[in-house]
Amino acid sequence: MICASLTSPTMQTALADMKKACEAADIVEIRLDYIDSPAVKPFVENRTKPIIATNRPTREGGKYEGDEKKRIALLREAAAAGFDYIDIELDSVERLGEHGASKVIVSYHNFKQMPDNLREIHEQIVAAGADIAKLAVMATDICDTLRMFDLLRDVSIPTIGLCMGEEGVITRILGPRFGSFLSFGTLAEGKQSAPGQIPIRDMRGLYRVNDLDAETKLYGVIANPVAHSMSPAIHNAAFQEKGINAVYLPLKVADVRRFVAEFKKLDMQGYSVTIPHKVDVIDVMDEVDEFVSDIGAMNTVVNRDGRLCGYNTDCLGALRAIENVMGGEEPLKGKRVVMLGAGGTSRAIGYGIKARGGKLTILNRTVSKAEKLAGEIGCEWGPLDRLTEIEFDVLLNTTSVGMHPNVDDTPAPTDVLKEGMIVFDAVYNPMETRLLREATERGCVTVSGVDMFVNQAVAQFEMWTETDAPVERMRQVVVERLKVR
Ligand code: ATR
Repeated sequence: MICASLTSPTMQTALADMKKACEAADIVEIRLDYIDSPAVKPFVENRTKPIIATNRPTREGGKYEGDEKKRIALLREAAAAGFDYIDIELDSVERLGEHGASKVIVSYHNFKQMPDNLREIHEQIVAAGADIAKLAVMATDICDTLRMFDLLRDVSIPTIGLCMGEEGVITRILGPRFGSFLSFGTLAEGKQSAPGQIPIRDMRGLYRVNDLDAETKLYGVIANPVAHSMSPAIHNAAFQEKGINAVYLPLKVADVRRFVAEFKKLDMQGYSVTIPHKVDVIDVMDEVDEFVSDIGAMNTVVNRDGRLCGYNTDCLGALRAIENVMGGEEPLKGKRVVMLGAGGTSRAIGYGIKARGGKLTILNRTVSKAEKLAGEIGCEWGPLDRLTEIEFDVLLNTTSVGMHPNVDDTPAPTDVLKEGMIVFDAVYNPMETRLLREATERGCVTVSGVDMFVNQAVAQFEMWTETDAPVERMRQVVVERLKVR
């Protein structure tokens, strides 16, 4: 069940929000402590879904600062008026008294950390006569969530278990799958009543919280920070499009070694890996493919019967995007390829071009870096201005030149661009860089950073599911996201 937690400041806005919440959610929590002069009857009279009365004091993370007796009296009033559930804190439950037909949620909050005695607290809640237990604790590391899932798996009464904070977001998505009575969400962005809550629109549309079951396969992106990753939008849309029972989670990971070791018990089927873990994660794989050993960075984990295997689809995605427009068998073989840049992206793509038989030359602003990378890959190198002197079939920009906000910059003079050439730009913001615009005007075939980004996700999806990826749907998600930026 998804519960909308309402933090409206007045009776008028709270009643209007309850109407929307009754449409969006399965159950609605009215946070009486947020409302100026709250009255309980109008909620009961106007609700179309079960409602919870909560009047949280500041000591448990709420807004109520007044007299304790009055605080509890309002909850009793809510029970008498016909609220379906009354939420009362463990430290106050003795004072609740008569609560009619309302069920009692006995709650515990810890805004600092995951307590050592989580189970003991749950036992105290049961002993206090709760109909439903609620434990909301702050996750300071994503591995804290595993203790919450363990608790949810074997409880004697219905229990709401969640971890707050960005590290705890996955408990809000997976909680019901592990048996949580409900999961709280917000009606709109920015209306959180607790850290880490996500909009109900995403709980339903993106993560399909109510559809997840014991069979649901788990995937996710390991990153830090993770909030702005586009990968959950892309992969969840792809799973949905293909009717695959799987969910893709945002995983804010500080210590990748600990994460990989401890999350083995969840048997996640695959991960994307991004900044800052692309290098460190290699050490904790059971095996990695040849590109990963060469490049020294990876972005994809596939769980093969418990063995974690590492790949680099940044490399594979770029190759695929480029080869798609060239067509035919081994299209890069023997082609003269110039790559501008000698950074991390260049490294991933450069090894790929070499492996496909391209005749590669690396040109870079800092020539020593071009020399070093070319020495490792085994190819030609030089300064950027060499571009006007050499002949080539394929031009790859892997520098950040032309990226927002410097959209008027370009790494290549227009007159080197000739009809029929392949021109690739790893920059995806803007989607059409000045380089690609001028290349199109000169009759070149262009490949954008969006194509690379989509294809790295496509390659991941296909490795994980062993089925064709819904490429157009994935591209649509990326393009929509980039447009609203
Ligand atoms: P990434 O991981 O995205 O590849 P990076 O490793 O920082 O990022 O690499 C950035 C690349 O863009 C480098 O090749 C860099 O050139 P230097 O090695 O000389 O720094 C290149 N780059 C960035 N800004 C540039 C500019 N204004 N002109 C030319 N090259 C530039």
